[in-house]
Amino acid sequence: MPTLRLAIVGAGPAGIYAADILLREAHGHDVSIDLFEQLPAPYGLVRYGVAPDHPRIKGIINALRDVLDRGVVRLFGNVRFGEDITLEDLKKHYNAVVFSTGAIKDADLDIPGIDLEGSYGAADFVSWFDGHPDVPRTWPLTAESVAVIGNGNVALDVSRILAKHADDLLPTEIPDNVYAGLKASPVTDVHVFGRRGPAQVKFTPLELRELGEVRDVDMVVYDEDFDHDEASLAAIQTNKQVMVINRVLNQWREREVGQASRRLHLHFYAKPLELVGDADGHVAAIRYERTRPNGEGGVEGTGEIREVPIQAAYRAVGYFGSPLPGLPFDERQGIIPNREGQVLGEDGQQLPGVYATGWIKRGPVGLIGHTKSDAMETVQHIVNDQASWWTPEDPAPEAVPALLRERGVAYTDLDGWHNLDEHELALGAAAGRERIKVVPRDEMIDVSLGRTTAPTS
Ligand SMILES: Cc1cc2nc3c(=O)[nH]c(=O)nc-3n(C[C@H](O)[C@H](O)[C@H](O)COP(=O)(O)OP(=O)(O)OC[C@H]3O[C@@H](n4cnc5c(N)ncnc54)[C@H](O)[C@@H]3O)c2cc1C
Ligand SMILES: NC(=O)c1ccc[n+]([C@@H]2O[C@H](COP(=O)([O-])OP(=O)(O)OC[C@H]3O[C@@H](n4cnc5c(N)ncnc54)[C@H](OP(=O)(O)O)[C@@H]3O)[C@@H](O)[C@H]2O)c1
Repeated sequence: MPTLRLAIVGAGPAGIYAADILLREAHGHDVSIDLFEQLPAPYGLVRYGVAPDHPRIKGIINALRDVLDRGVVRLFGNVRFGEDITLEDLKKHYNAVVFSTGAIKDADLDIPGIDLEGSYGAADFVSWFDGHPDVPRTWPLTAESVAVIGNGNVALDVSRILAKHADDLLPTEIPDNVYAGLKASPVTDVHVFGRRGPAQVKFTPLELRELGEVRDVDMVVYDEDFDHDEASLAAIQTNKQVMVINRVLNQWREREVGQASRRLHLHFYAKPLELVGDADGHVAAIRYERTRPNGEGGVEGTGEIREVPIQAAYRAVGYFGSPLPGLPFDERQGIIPNREGQVLGEDGQQLPGVYATGWIKRGPVGLIGHTKSDAMETVQHIVNDQASWWTPEDPAPEAVPALLRERGVAYTDLDGWHNLDEHELALGAAAGRERIKVVPRDEMIDVSLGRTTAPTS
């Protein structure tokens, strides 16, 4: 393989795994990789999506960090593609680029009332409780009764964080403002609405079971949701995940409810129709249609309309990717159009030198581990496509940092990330916790660039 200078845009797991796999494929060839990330910290949704009370999954950061620490990949944090650096710039300095920009926004839910006050996207709430620097620091947690729409793992994460007592989150890395917000929450009931049945949920057994272990929260399930049709029974008998999920739900049907101060209700066969507002334009109820199985794994409406009073609603109906300046975008799927990671132009032909991997390649579904197989496929194409790589006008490694400095971009690097990491660990140690995240972007940059001194414990 000839000398390869590769740019990767997006330092989430997909981008870092792509770097790792490429370095392994290089077998001693001259490969250099620059990783551009819009945030001052790497790791994408592992840092800003995975729930704070899932420390084992957050621990994947250690493996990702090992890749960066190998000393071959340069990290340029706080550099936003499309603003601080463009496709034209990358063509000038690299042989190829991989986009691994993931997804951070909520998918739309087109029902009346979705824009009422008190109606939120799960992705925004996740960004808040995971301390993302680009969302407001306060969150209006004033509702006693809350609806969460969707039956995926994000819906469960959001429901669990809403229902959990803030003190039980203190051992985690949650920022102080998040602890304070959750501590003041008056919530008593969280209602989760799935439009299909318990045999068609998207969430996974481990995440469901965890709900039943939350202190002082009763799980409430309704007998009417367990009148399975043949397709559901077949799924329960043949699919291990579905089987376990239904076993857990059936155990909860037997449990006594009434001891806990908070309840988490699971409503199946409940298709949201509308968020009903009060005179002030605030969410006051969710109206849904009761559905029934259609015999093929889907559902059909029964015409029976129900209403549950709520004061806040969270739609957890999936994430959605964002377009990148100068690149094609599939508006329907929210991805960069591609064939196995080779980006395709509007004419359907491959755009030489341009690749995609992770959620921006195949949509916002799948676990962190899936981004590894994704990256393998994309990297294989990069290696095989060397005849069509760009020929950079100025491949000198110093050219890019010089360009960023010239543009006044306060970029952070790997040493900067180590500074921030150590600072957060020290903040945690001072409070008897493992880590406390720094949230404001300016503060993250200051700490990364060594403009503030580390706290003493
Ligand atoms: C709430 C939530 C919880 C999850 N929990 C788990 C879990 O417990 N276990 C599990 O296995 N999976 C979990 N997942 C799934 C997992 O997070 C994804 O599979 C994975 O993060 C996708 O990786 P990615 O690198 O494609 O995208 P991302 O992780 O989103 O990374 C994309 C990166 O690109 C950067 N970027 C975006 N635009 C630009 C730009 N213009 N310029 C520069 N940089 C840019 C972003 O800042 C980000 O750092 C969860 C997902 C969500 C939404
Ligand atoms: N702990 C973990 O491992 C973890 C945590 C969070 C996320 N993740 C992963 O991240 C990925 C994304 O998760 P996700 O929860 O955002 O997406 P998801 O798994 O695709 O779930 C989306 C849910 O929204 C529902 N939905 C979509 N449109 C709807 C509508 N118009 N009305 C009502 N409901 C609607 C879907 O129902 P239908 O099925 O009927 O379409 C589905 O239940 C998944 O792969 C997930 O496993 C993992």
